[in-house]
Amino acid sequence: MTLIFKMIGILFCLLVLYVIWQAQELRHFNRTGYQVCSDKLKEVHKWVVLADLHLWRYGRHNERLLQAIREETPEAILIPGDLIVHTKPERFFVAEELIKQLTAIAPVYFSNGNHESRLEDPEHANYVPYQQLKKRMAELGVHILNNEREIVKAGADELVMIGLELPLSYYKKGVETPLAPDELSRCLGEPDASRYQILLAHTPKYIPEYFAWGADLCLSGHYHGGLVCIPGIGSVVSPQFELLPKYSFGRFDEGTRTALVSRGMGTHTFHIRIFNRSELLVVTAKPEPCGGIQ
Ligand SMILES: [Fe+2]
Repeated sequence: MTLIFKMIGILFCLLVLYVIWQAQELRHFNRTGYQVCSDKLKEVHKWVVLADLHLWRYGRHNERLLQAIREETPEAILIPGDLIVHTKPERFFVAEELIKQLTAIAPVYFSNGNHESRLEDPEHANYVPYQQLKKRMAELGVHILNNEREIVKAGADELVMIGLELPLSYYKKGVETPLAPDELSRCLGEPDASRYQILLAHTPKYIPEYFAWGADLCLSGHYHGGLVCIPGIGSVVSPQFELLPKYSFGRFDEGTRTALVSRGMGTHTFHIRIFNRSELLVVTAKPEPCGGIQ
Protein backbone atom coordinates (compact mmCIF):
# COMPACT_ATOMS: atom_id res chain seq x y z
CA MET A 1 0.00 0.00 0.00
CA THR A 2 2.83 2.37 0.97
CA LEU A 3 4.48 1.65 -2.38
CA ILE A 4 1.27 2.56 -4.23
CA PHE A 5 1.04 5.87 -2.32
CA LYS A 6 4.71 6.56 -3.14
CA MET A 7 4.08 5.86 -6.84
CA ILE A 8 1.00 8.13 -6.85
CA GLY A 9 3.03 10.85 -5.10
CA ILE A 10 5.87 10.58 -7.66
CA LEU A 11 3.41 10.67 -10.59
CA PHE A 12 1.66 13.68 -9.10
CA CYS A 13 4.98 15.53 -8.67
CA LEU A 14 5.96 14.70 -12.27
CA LEU A 15 2.60 15.96 -13.49
CA VAL A 16 2.99 19.23 -11.57
CA LEU A 17 6.52 19.66 -12.97
CA TYR A 18 5.25 19.00 -16.50
CA VAL A 19 2.41 21.54 -16.12
CA ILE A 20 4.86 24.20 -14.89
CA TRP A 21 7.38 23.40 -17.66
CA GLN A 22 4.68 23.36 -20.37
CA ALA A 23 3.27 26.73 -19.26
CA GLN A 24 6.78 28.21 -19.53
CA GLU A 25 7.49 26.54 -22.88
CA LEU A 26 4.32 27.98 -24.43
CA ARG A 27 5.56 31.48 -23.64
CA HIS A 28 8.48 31.13 -26.06
CA PHE A 29 8.95 30.88 -29.80
CA ASN A 30 11.89 30.23 -32.09
CA ARG A 31 12.96 32.03 -35.23
CA THR A 32 13.49 29.58 -38.08
CA GLY A 33 15.29 30.98 -41.11
CA TYR A 34 15.06 29.54 -44.60
CA GLN A 35 16.65 30.54 -47.87
CA VAL A 36 15.06 29.83 -51.22
CA CYS A 37 16.34 30.60 -54.71
CA SER A 38 14.74 31.10 -58.07
CA ASP A 39 15.80 32.13 -61.53
CA LYS A 40 12.49 34.01 -61.68
CA LEU A 41 13.83 36.52 -59.13
CA LYS A 42 16.10 39.48 -59.85
CA GLU A 43 16.37 40.78 -56.27
CA VAL A 44 16.59 39.54 -52.69
CA HIS A 45 13.35 39.48 -50.69
CA LYS A 46 12.62 38.76 -47.04
CA TRP A 47 9.27 37.70 -45.65
CA VAL A 48 8.07 36.75 -42.20
CA VAL A 49 5.50 33.94 -41.94
CA LEU A 50 3.09 33.95 -39.04
CA ALA A 51 1.02 30.74 -39.07
CA ASP A 52 -1.59 29.47 -36.61
CA LEU A 53 -1.35 32.24 -34.04
CA HIS A 54 -4.78 31.25 -32.71
CA LEU A 55 -5.15 34.50 -30.73
CA TRP A 56 -1.99 33.67 -28.77
CA ARG A 57 -0.07 36.53 -27.17
CA TYR A 58 3.67 36.82 -26.51
CA GLY A 59 3.85 39.49 -23.89
CA ARG A 60 1.34 42.22 -23.25
CA HIS A 61 -0.12 43.37 -26.60
CA ASN A 62 2.11 40.75 -28.30
CA GLU A 63 5.05 43.09 -27.85
CA ARG A 64 7.71 40.32 -27.92
CA LEU A 65 6.34 38.97 -31.19
CA LEU A 66 6.08 42.42 -32.73
CA GLN A 67 9.63 43.27 -31.70
CA ALA A 68 10.96 40.04 -33.24
CA ILE A 69 9.17 40.87 -36.50
CA ARG A 70 10.39 44.49 -36.49
CA GLU A 71 13.98 43.31 -36.06
CA GLU A 72 13.71 41.27 -39.27
CA THR A 73 12.62 44.34 -41.31
CA PRO A 74 10.56 42.12 -43.62
CA GLU A 75 9.31 43.20 -47.02
CA ALA A 76 5.95 41.61 -46.18
CA ILE A 77 4.23 39.63 -43.43
CA LEU A 78 2.49 36.49 -44.66
CA ILE A 79 -0.28 34.83 -42.61
CA PRO A 80 -1.44 31.47 -44.00
CA GLY A 81 -4.49 31.14 -41.75
CA ASP A 82 -5.73 30.33 -38.26
CA LEU A 83 -5.08 33.72 -36.79
CA ILE A 84 -8.11 33.11 -34.57
CA VAL A 85 -9.93 30.33 -32.72
CA HIS A 86 -13.39 29.98 -34.20
CA THR A 87 -15.06 29.48 -30.81
CA LYS A 88 -13.58 32.60 -29.17
CA PRO A 89 -15.18 35.70 -30.72
CA GLU A 90 -14.82 37.52 -27.40
CA ARG A 91 -11.02 37.44 -27.98
CA PHE A 92 -10.97 38.53 -31.63
CA PHE A 93 -9.75 41.91 -30.35
CA VAL A 94 -6.32 40.24 -29.87
CA ALA A 95 -6.13 39.63 -33.64
CA GLU A 96 -7.30 43.16 -34.46
CA GLU A 97 -4.80 44.68 -32.04
CA LEU A 98 -1.96 42.65 -33.56
CA ILE A 99 -2.95 43.33 -37.17
CA LYS A 100 -2.99 47.05 -36.46
CA GLN A 101 0.64 46.85 -35.33
CA LEU A 102 1.71 44.47 -38.11
CA THR A 103 0.39 46.71 -40.88
CA ALA A 104 2.56 49.50 -39.46
CA ILE A 105 5.64 47.28 -40.00
CA ALA A 106 5.05 45.92 -43.53
CA PRO A 107 2.24 44.94 -45.92
CA VAL A 108 0.27 41.99 -44.56
CA TYR A 109 -1.11 39.17 -46.75
CA PHE A 110 -3.63 36.82 -45.18
CA SER A 111 -5.66 33.82 -46.24
CA ASN A 112 -8.23 31.87 -44.27
CA GLY A 113 -7.32 28.72 -42.34
CA ASN A 114 -9.93 26.17 -41.31
CA HIS A 115 -10.84 28.23 -38.22
CA GLU A 116 -11.70 31.24 -40.38
CA SER A 117 -13.35 29.17 -43.14
CA ARG A 118 -15.87 27.84 -40.63
CA LEU A 119 -16.92 31.41 -39.95
CA GLU A 120 -17.66 32.12 -43.61
CA ASP A 121 -20.90 30.18 -43.12
CA PRO A 122 -23.74 32.67 -42.39
CA GLU A 123 -25.40 29.96 -40.27
CA HIS A 124 -22.45 29.85 -37.87
CA ALA A 125 -23.04 31.57 -34.51
CA ASN A 126 -19.75 33.51 -34.86
CA TYR A 127 -20.22 34.51 -38.50
CA VAL A 128 -20.93 38.17 -37.72
CA PRO A 129 -17.95 38.73 -35.35
CA TYR A 130 -15.58 37.25 -37.94
CA GLN A 131 -17.02 39.31 -40.78
CA GLN A 132 -16.55 42.39 -38.58
CA LEU A 133 -12.94 41.40 -37.88
CA LYS A 134 -12.29 40.80 -41.58
CA LYS A 135 -13.81 44.18 -42.44
CA ARG A 136 -11.56 45.83 -39.85
CA MET A 137 -8.51 43.96 -41.23
CA ALA A 138 -9.35 45.19 -44.74
CA GLU A 139 -9.70 48.77 -43.40
CA LEU A 140 -6.27 48.42 -41.82
CA GLY A 141 -4.89 47.52 -45.25
CA VAL A 142 -4.54 43.73 -44.99
CA HIS A 143 -4.53 41.99 -48.36
CA ILE A 144 -7.10 39.23 -47.80
CA LEU A 145 -6.66 36.53 -50.40
CA ASN A 146 -9.21 33.75 -50.25
CA ASN A 147 -8.85 31.97 -53.58
CA GLU A 148 -7.56 35.24 -54.95
CA ARG A 149 -4.23 36.55 -56.12
CA GLU A 150 -2.40 39.82 -56.33
CA ILE A 151 0.59 40.86 -58.38
CA VAL A 152 3.03 42.49 -55.99
CA LYS A 153 5.69 44.81 -57.32
CA ALA A 154 8.79 44.34 -55.19
CA GLY A 155 11.79 46.20 -56.58
CA ALA A 156 12.62 44.79 -59.99
CA ASP A 157 10.41 41.75 -59.41
CA GLU A 158 6.73 41.12 -59.87
CA LEU A 159 5.61 38.41 -57.45
CA VAL A 160 2.27 36.66 -57.49
CA MET A 161 0.82 36.36 -53.99
CA ILE A 162 -1.94 33.75 -53.89
CA GLY A 163 -4.19 32.64 -51.04
CA LEU A 164 -5.81 29.20 -51.17
CA GLU A 165 -8.99 28.46 -49.26
CA LEU A 166 -9.93 24.82 -49.67
CA PRO A 167 -13.44 23.59 -48.82
CA LEU A 168 -13.79 22.42 -45.21
CA SER A 169 -14.39 18.85 -46.41
CA TYR A 170 -10.59 18.60 -46.79
CA TYR A 171 -10.17 19.12 -43.04
CA LYS A 172 -12.31 16.18 -41.90
CA LYS A 173 -10.74 14.32 -39.01
CA GLY A 174 -9.91 10.64 -39.29
CA VAL A 175 -10.61 10.42 -43.04
CA GLU A 176 -8.16 10.38 -45.91
CA THR A 177 -9.49 12.94 -48.41
CA PRO A 178 -7.56 13.10 -51.68
CA LEU A 179 -7.61 16.42 -53.46
CA ALA A 180 -10.01 16.36 -56.40
CA PRO A 181 -8.00 16.61 -59.65
CA ASP A 182 -9.54 19.94 -60.66
CA GLU A 183 -9.77 21.43 -57.14
CA LEU A 184 -6.78 23.78 -57.38
CA SER A 185 -7.66 25.12 -60.81
CA ARG A 186 -11.27 25.52 -59.60
CA CYS A 187 -10.11 27.50 -56.54
CA LEU A 188 -7.16 29.36 -58.04
CA GLY A 189 -7.58 29.41 -61.81
CA GLU A 190 -4.56 28.95 -64.02
CA PRO A 191 -1.01 29.54 -62.71
CA ASP A 192 1.16 32.41 -63.92
CA ALA A 193 4.33 30.49 -64.72
CA SER A 194 6.25 33.57 -65.89
CA ARG A 195 6.29 35.06 -62.37
CA TYR A 196 7.41 33.80 -58.92
CA GLN A 197 4.26 32.42 -57.33
CA ILE A 198 3.89 32.34 -53.54
CA LEU A 199 0.99 30.21 -52.33
CA LEU A 200 -0.41 30.71 -48.84
CA ALA A 201 -2.03 27.31 -48.31
CA HIS A 202 -3.13 26.63 -44.75
CA THR A 203 -2.96 22.86 -44.86
CA PRO A 204 0.33 21.27 -45.99
CA LYS A 205 -1.43 17.99 -46.74
CA TYR A 206 -1.49 18.62 -50.49
CA ILE A 207 2.02 19.98 -51.07
CA PRO A 208 2.70 17.68 -54.10
CA GLU A 209 -0.52 18.96 -55.69
CA TYR A 210 0.43 22.59 -54.96
CA PHE A 211 3.76 21.97 -56.74
CA ALA A 212 2.02 20.25 -59.64
CA TRP A 213 -0.31 23.26 -59.98
CA GLY A 214 2.72 25.54 -60.31
CA ALA A 215 3.44 27.19 -56.94
CA ASP A 216 7.10 28.15 -56.58
CA LEU A 217 6.89 28.65 -52.83
CA CYS A 218 4.17 27.16 -50.60
CA LEU A 219 3.73 28.43 -47.04
CA SER A 220 1.64 26.35 -44.64
CA GLY A 221 1.00 25.53 -40.99
CA HIS A 222 -2.10 23.87 -39.57
CA TYR A 223 -0.46 20.78 -38.00
CA HIS A 224 1.19 22.79 -35.19
CA GLY A 225 4.26 20.58 -35.67
CA GLY A 226 2.18 17.63 -34.51
CA LEU A 227 2.01 18.83 -30.84
CA VAL A 228 4.44 16.17 -29.63
CA CYS A 229 7.62 15.65 -31.58
CA ILE A 230 10.01 12.75 -30.99
CA PRO A 231 13.61 13.72 -31.80
CA GLY A 232 14.86 11.71 -34.78
CA ILE A 233 11.37 10.50 -35.68
CA GLY A 234 9.22 13.62 -36.05
CA SER A 235 5.64 14.45 -35.23
CA VAL A 236 3.43 11.90 -33.60
CA VAL A 237 -0.02 12.89 -34.80
CA SER A 238 -1.70 15.54 -36.96
CA PRO A 239 -4.82 17.51 -35.95
CA GLN A 240 -6.66 15.14 -38.35
CA PHE A 241 -5.48 12.20 -36.20
CA GLU A 242 -3.10 11.06 -38.92
CA LEU A 243 -0.18 9.17 -37.35
CA LEU A 244 3.38 10.34 -38.11
CA PRO A 245 2.23 12.97 -40.64
CA LYS A 246 4.79 13.66 -43.36
CA TYR A 247 4.33 17.40 -43.71
CA SER A 248 3.93 18.52 -40.09
CA PHE A 249 6.86 20.98 -40.14
CA GLY A 250 10.02 21.82 -42.06
CA ARG A 251 11.17 22.20 -45.62
CA PHE A 252 10.13 20.15 -48.65
CA ASP A 253 11.72 20.61 -52.07
CA GLU A 254 10.80 19.28 -55.48
CA GLY A 255 13.01 20.53 -58.30
CA THR A 256 12.88 24.33 -58.21
CA ARG A 257 9.82 24.40 -55.93
CA THR A 258 9.85 24.66 -52.12
CA ALA A 259 7.27 24.26 -49.38
CA LEU A 260 7.90 25.58 -45.88
CA VAL A 261 5.65 24.31 -43.10
CA SER A 262 5.58 26.20 -39.82
CA ARG A 263 5.08 24.54 -36.46
CA GLY A 264 2.73 27.46 -35.85
CA MET A 265 2.81 30.22 -33.29
CA GLY A 266 -0.05 29.25 -31.00
CA THR A 267 -2.18 26.44 -29.70
CA HIS A 268 -5.84 25.90 -28.96
CA THR A 269 -7.88 23.16 -27.24
CA PHE A 270 -4.82 21.04 -26.35
CA HIS A 271 -2.15 23.40 -25.07
CA ILE A 272 0.64 20.90 -25.57
CA ARG A 273 4.02 21.35 -27.24
CA ILE A 274 6.74 18.86 -26.44
CA PHE A 275 10.07 19.15 -28.33
CA ASN A 276 8.01 21.30 -30.65
CA ARG A 277 8.41 24.96 -29.81
CA SER A 278 6.32 27.56 -31.66
CA GLU A 279 8.13 29.15 -34.57
CA LEU A 280 8.22 32.30 -36.62
CA LEU A 281 9.49 31.65 -40.13
CA VAL A 282 11.82 34.11 -41.80
CA VAL A 283 12.23 33.44 -45.50
CA THR A 284 14.94 35.00 -47.63
CA ALA A 285 14.41 34.56 -51.36
CA LYS A 286 17.31 35.18 -53.74
CA PRO A 287 17.99 35.05 -57.45
CA GLU A 288 19.88 32.02 -58.78
CA PRO A 289 22.66 31.16 -58.13
CA CYS A 290 22.41 31.81 -54.40
CA GLY A 291 24.98 29.47 -52.90
CA GLY A 292 24.29 27.01 -50.08
CA ILE A 293 20.83 26.34 -48.73
CA GLN A 294 20.18 27.49 -45.16
FE1 LIG B 1 -5.64 24.89 -38.93
